[in-house]
Amino acid sequence: MTIEIRAATPSDSAAVLALWLEAETHPTATDDLESVNQLLAHDPGSLLVAESDGTLVGSIIAGWDGWRGSIYRLAVSPSERRRGVAGALVREAERRLQSLGARRLQANVVSDDPQAVAFWRSSGWEEQDHRKRFVQSDVPGG
Ligand SMILES: CC(C)(COP(=O)(O)OP(=O)(O)OC[C@H]1O[C@@H](n2cnc3c(N)ncnc32)[C@H](O)[C@@H]1OP(=O)(O)O)[C@@H](O)C(=O)NCCC(=O)NCCS
Repeated sequence: MTIEIRAATPSDSAAVLALWLEAETHPTATDDLESVNQLLAHDPGSLLVAESDGTLVGSIIAGWDGWRGSIYRLAVSPSERRRGVAGALVREAERRLQSLGARRLQANVVSDDPQAVAFWRSSGWEEQDHRKRFVQSDVPGG
């Protein structure tokens, strides 16, 4: 299997949303075309996709705000798992963020998701459990 990783464009947004559903990522209130296209307009190159034979099989958001690089929405199609796709996406995200100047990276990981935690524990990233996340949103559950 040859995997190509590239920056997503608005023409990928619908397929990315379908992948998030198929991969059973933890849904958020902004899983819609408008929000994905807003991300692409705000930070082109921040949404990376993995393709195998022209089919979208993985995604990751690597956002840079000038202070810290942040990773969200790592997802791989169920049929393509345990083949290193997520690892390749994370390495490409690291390259992007570091090339933009980010020296500190963080990943937003659902702590009671065994797959997600197992992946990140194997990634070589340092696990921190002494911080809590506080959120504020104008959408329920956001
Ligand atoms: C978590 C997820 C992204 C991993 O994708 P993947 O492409 O299968 O991961 P990789 O093949 O790169 O795995 C690299 C290593 O991570 C660990 N790992 C990955 N999935 C694992 C699992 N289900 N159980 C245990 N270890 C796992 C293993 O050490 C694996 O190496 P190995 O296959 O040689 O044993 C994928 O399972 C997924 O999309 N899950 C649903 C969405 C999700 O939880 N996303 C994470 C949000 S942070």
